[in-house]
Amino acid sequence: MTDLRGKVAWVTGGARGQGRAHARALAAAGAHVVVTDIVRQIQTIPYPLAGQDDLVQTVADIVASGGRATAAMLDVRDSVAVSALVETIMSEQGRLDILVANAGVCAFSPVEDINDDQWSDILDTNLTGAFHCVRAAVGAMRTNGHGRIVGVSSGAGRGGMKDLSHYSASKWGVIGFIKSVALEVGEFGITANVVCPTSVATPMIMNSATLQRFRPDLDNPTPDDARDVFAGLSALGIPWLEPEDVTRAVMYFVDDPGLTTGTVLEVNLGTSATRA
Ligand SMILES: NC(=O)c1ccc[n+]([C@@H]2O[C@H](COP(=O)([O-])OP(=O)(O)OC[C@H]3O[C@@H](n4cnc5c(N)ncnc54)[C@H](O)[C@@H]3O)[C@@H](O)[C@H]2O)c1
Repeated sequence: MTDLRGKVAWVTGGARGQGRAHARALAAAGAHVVVTDIVRQIQTIPYPLAGQDDLVQTVADIVASGGRATAAMLDVRDSVAVSALVETIMSEQGRLDILVANAGVCAFSPVEDINDDQWSDILDTNLTGAFHCVRAAVGAMRTNGHGRIVGVSSGAGRGGMKDLSHYSASKWGVIGFIKSVALEVGEFGITANVVCPTSVATPMIMNSATLQRFRPDLDNPTPDDARDVFAGLSALGIPWLEPEDVTRAVMYFVDDPGLTTGTVLEVNLGTSATRA
């Protein structure tokens, strides 16, 4: 069992979904977890983002299990707010050991229909947001001589995906960014790696706008309606991951003794077996 007692972790986009699962696991391993999330809507995103109640619930879950966590509203697109958050972590907790740069948004659209705001909202959150958080975290981690940075890409960061050109560009960008950072920070005892999940059962895909991409024959498809279509994409016949399946990959990098950096771990259900 990973022992993170005395360590401080920061999870972005942690109000729900994968981020909540990562936060819970980090706290269960003994870390104090700082959970941040935008907790308001981005108008170009066609499904609801997390609310304040979700963020409160993540912290309540952790505390109820005997863990330690604090929450803050934070839009990762706001570099000033990101830097201020890390200053607060350092003044209140005295250190920062782990960053899971998880916050992300998705939308489907053919390239010729993507307007400038839609492009910017995806790239600014998924890629530039990760940059803001990593840049701020590296300075704090250097003072410890220890750090674990985990970026979150996607199967869309390993290949192209129809009607996801902006999302795919952002997730390929995360991989190039984190690999480059890994080369810079190794001498300070910091590793930087990426997890690439395939479909995960979170509100990002379990919403009618996204499910209808997979069941265009139905007006308001449910996850059960789309289950077989998703399963058909998997070499294992499994439709989607649960958030905790991705958490295992995150915890692998967190627990690593400092021997693995600049790598990409796909949690893929076999969906990428035909790619290099
Ligand atoms: N669900 C999937 O199928 C899937 C697959 C591969 C990768 N991913 C990636 O996994 C990560 C987690 O997504 P999820 O599946 O848990 O979806 P989710 O929508 O449940 O969680 C994403 C969280 O990020 C927050 N967020 C969005 N924009 C933000 C911003 N600008 N600043 C701060 N927080 C913001 C949301 O409020 C939400 O709580 C994302 O980076 C996503 O792109 C998801």
